[in-house]
Amino acid sequence: MSAAFPAERAVILTGAASPRGIGRATAHHLAERGWSIGIIDVDAEAAREAAREVAEATGVVAAGAGANVADREAAVAAVDELEASLPQLVAVVNFAGVSSPVPYLEVTPEEWQRVESINLDGVHWITQRVARTLVDNGVGRIVGISSVSAQRGGGTYSKTPYSASKAGVIGLMRSIARELGPFGVTANVISPGPIDTDIMGGTLTEERKTAMAADGVLPRIGTPRDIAAAVAYLISEDAGFVTGQTLNVDGGLYMH
Ligand SMILES: NC(=O)c1ccc[n+]([C@@H]2O[C@H](COP(=O)([O-])OP(=O)(O)OC[C@H]3O[C@@H](n4cnc5c(N)ncnc54)[C@H](O)[C@@H]3O)[C@@H](O)[C@H]2O)c1
Repeated sequence: MSAAFPAERAVILTGAASPRGIGRATAHHLAERGWSIGIIDVDAEAAREAAREVAEATGVVAAGAGANVADREAAVAAVDELEASLPQLVAVVNFAGVSSPVPYLEVTPEEWQRVESINLDGVHWITQRVARTLVDNGVGRIVGISSVSAQRGGGTYSKTPYSASKAGVIGLMRSIARELGPFGVTANVISPGPIDTDIMGGTLTEERKTAMAADGVLPRIGTPRDIAAAVAYLISEDAGFVTGQTLNVDGGLYMH
């Protein structure tokens, strides 16, 4: 049985510090809809600065903490720190991630480990810590961020270690959905197509954007706002009967 969805509620967003990233745009979008915001990023100062920016712009309580999500102890400590200064924790959205354009036969053990440890292990460490609170409270929303690269086998910028880690996020969230559903906690995935941020080797030129859009059904690539709106739905009270799902926000690149 689920407990009531609290009016005063907080969401933790990992990887929400980069100025042109999806996470920071989502922090603003959710704060404008009444969520208190916790930001965890490997860049600690940028995390705190992003939280200040959100608090000033919207008036909600917001706090930032530094952690490499691949480091379990640091990840857990960052959630502990944020939870102490925020209203009831209801949701977590795992944006922290790195790209990897290395061709498969050139992937070193270090590159493989770097990508999996951040993009998959890091999602697990943060989610497991937050899930303990959500289960205790009897209500919660968990979101993982995959990629169309996982579903189509690369094809945008990143290659195999990235695709494998992002496919892992889908399996992770489905299994968490099954285990934690009885405790009032949902777990879902958003799978973005190419989004106009700096993660694909720097800011995209108009030429690159046009080339990436050519493969889809809609004549453009995505914006951080497209993803933020999907997050707002999946962590809302109204999405309480949606769990174990992958929501493709990709302009029709992958229809499934
Ligand atoms: N932009 C796209 O086209 C696209 C498409 C599909 C999926 N995604 C995914 O969306 C998420 C956000 O990407 P973005 O485009 O906003 O990129 P971005 O590079 O702007 O944001 C990534 C953020 O994660 C943080 N980060 C990196 N390593 C970290 C670590 N070890 N610990 C904590 N924080 C760390 C970075 O500092 C940054 O703030 C990523 O998981 C990415 O894989 C992006």
